[in-house]
Amino acid sequence: MKGVILAGGYGTRLSPLTKVTNKHLLPVFDKPMIYYPIECLVNAGIKDIMIVTGGNKAGDFLELLGNGKDFGLQELHYTYQEGAGGIAEALGLTKDFVDNDKVVVILGDNIIEGNIRKAAGDFFTQKEGAKILLKEVSDPERFGVAEVDDQGNVLSIAEKPENPKSNYAVIGIYMFDNKVFEIISNLKPSGRGELEITDVNNAYIEQGNMTSEVLHGWWTDAGTMESLQRANSLVSDGGANLLDI
Ligand code: G1P
Repeated sequence: MKGVILAGGYGTRLSPLTKVTNKHLLPVFDKPMIYYPIECLVNAGIKDIMIVTGGNKAGDFLELLGNGKDFGLQELHYTYQEGAGGIAEALGLTKDFVDNDKVVVILGDNIIEGNIRKAAGDFFTQKEGAKILLKEVSDPERFGVAEVDDQGNVLSIAEKPENPKSNYAVIGIYMFDNKVFEIISNLKPSGRGELEITDVNNAYIEQGNMTSEVLHGWWTDAGTMESLQRANSLVSDGGANLLDI
């Protein structure tokens, strides 16, 4: 399986911190933010990784990460997203890299306490479709929110709904088979002018091809002042990407 880290965008919710650098290069405790999603993929055994960047200071990723030697990698791949066309558009840029493989996608500002080894292993043996990870949160309206039935099946996902149907946020780690690129090519931009990852996930749900798991351990994004501060405290209190949880 391939790994893709989405680290583009303008990070406007963190301005002025992001005026002269990319959000994913900002520090979270003792490391640049982008280190955490790389470690997350590598811990799950995924070593063929592409970083999609964009916006400010894209060249700094190369200077910081090179070929990924600090993570035990031989090689890292990079591509560039012009503008802010959304998460699904950014993923679409990795089509040739993913080729005929499956792909685990992680948003560059998502940090978890544990690891995704089991979920990635389960998806490896899943014949087709997609898998998402859910986490119960107290502020679901900030995220993609899953409507879940009594058996834990995901019925639909709403992007930042005013009236969330559950407290289950869809976290920014997604697993897709190769059909994802066909789905992306048929998407229409949302109200905010972006190709939404939530629309991709809903397409898999409609096809009856989505599985989900509830994540153990804490999860946070780091894209707002408040969540960046939370990420700093969570990581400094106990560390991220721990192997055994
Ligand atoms: C994105 C997704 C959202 C998801 C979140 C996780 O939101 O659109 O569905 O729950 O990431 O961090 P963003 O924070 O980029 O607006």
